[in-house]
Amino acid sequence: MRFRRAGTLLSYWQDGEQVFHNYAQRRCVAANDSARWLLDQLGDWCSREQLLALLPGYAPDSVDQAVRDLLAQGLLVAEGSPEAALDTAITEQWAPWLPDAGLHFSTKDTAYVNRDSSAELKAASLPDSPPPPSYKSQPGLPSIALPERQAAQSAFQEVLLARRTHRRFSERPLPLATVSQLLALCWGVTGHAETPTFGQLPLKTSPSGGARHPVEVYLMALQVEGLAAGIYHYHPLEHRLAALNVAASPELAARYCADQRYTGQAAALFLMTAVFPRTMWKYHKARAYRVVLLDAGHLGQTFCLTATDLGLAPFCTAALKDTLIEHDLGIDGVSESVLYVTGVGYPV
Ligand SMILES: Cc1cc2nc3c(=O)[nH]c(=O)nc-3n(C[C@H](O)[C@H](O)[C@H](O)COP(=O)(O)O)c2cc1C
Repeated sequence: MRFRRAGTLLSYWQDGEQVFHNYAQRRCVAANDSARWLLDQLGDWCSREQLLALLPGYAPDSVDQAVRDLLAQGLLVAEGSPEAALDTAITEQWAPWLPDAGLHFSTKDTAYVNRDSSAELKAASLPDSPPPPSYKSQPGLPSIALPERQAAQSAFQEVLLARRTHRRFSERPLPLATVSQLLALCWGVTGHAETPTFGQLPLKTSPSGGARHPVEVYLMALQVEGLAAGIYHYHPLEHRLAALNVAASPELAARYCADQRYTGQAAALFLMTAVFPRTMWKYHKARAYRVVLLDAGHLGQTFCLTATDLGLAPFCTAALKDTLIEHDLGIDGVSESVLYVTGVGYPV
C-alpha cells in the first residue's frame, strides 16, 4: 500500500494547538512534531518500504502505527481508497478556488436542529446571550422620515407582499401544467445574449454571474398529476424532464431535507445543484464561489415569488443531507454538488 499527505488539508492554531483540518473528510486533529515531520515528507505517494528507509532508527511497528493513526485522522490518504479518490478529485477540479472555497466541503452534511426537535435540543444549540438586534440604527446621523409605503400598486407588488414560507400543504396534487410553468419560469431558458467572446449565452428570469448559469434543477415529484412519483432532471433549453431511476416518497423528501418532516408533505421539491466548472472555467478566483451561491439564492426567490403568483405555498431550505442527495442524483459532489432545495404544494 502507498500513502500520501491529504491534499485537502488546512492548518491553523486553535486553543494554542496547531490543528490540521481535512475539509473534504470534515475532520480536525491536533498534530505533534513527529506527525508534522511525517506529513512534511509524504507529499508524494510513498510505500511502507520507502518510509522505513527514511526512518532507519525507528521500529517498523511504530512507523506502521503512526501511518495507521494518520490515515484514521484523515491526514494521510491510502492509494486506491475512496478518500484518496475524493482528495484527488477536489484538489484537481477545484484547484483555482482552493483552499478558500474548501468551506463548500467542510460544511456539507452538518447536523440540523429542526422544528420537530424538542425544546431542550433547541435551547442547547442557542447561546445564553440575547440575540443581536434585528436592525442597525444610526443615532449620530441626521434622519429623514420617508413617505409611507403605499398599498400594492401592481400584481407584482401584491405577490411580493404575499410571499411567505409555508410548512403546511393541502393534499391536493399539482397539475403537471403548473409544475411545467414553475420549471420554465424559474429555471428555463427565456432568451439568449450574443457576446463577442463567449458566443451565445443562455438567459433566464434570474440573473447569473457572467450568465454562466451553473445551477441545475431536479424535480422530486410526490403528488403531480400525470407524472409518476420520482426524481427528474430538467433540461432548461429543451424544457423536458429526464426520469432518474430513484423512487420518490415523502419519507425520502424529509430525509433529504435533514429530517424536516413538513417537506415530505409538499407536492413537489426542486433540488438545486451547481455545476461548478461552468463558473470556474471563466472565474478563477474563489470569490466566484460566492457568485454560485448568490445565483442559487436568486433562483430561490424567483421560485418563491412565482409559486406565490400561481396561488401555491412555497418553501426553501438549505438544511440538507448533501451526500445522500448527491448519491441518489448520481452526481459526484465535486464537479456537481447540491446547494439548495425549494418545494411547493397548495396552501391548506
Ligand atoms: C437560505 C435559506 C435557508 C432556509 N432554510 C430553512 C430551513 O432549513 N428550514 C425551514 O423551515 N426554513 C428555512 N428557510 C426559511 C426561513 O426560515 C424563512 O424565510 C424565514 O423564517 C422568514 O419567513 P418568510 O420566508 O415567510 O418571510 C430558509 C430560508 C433561506 C433564505
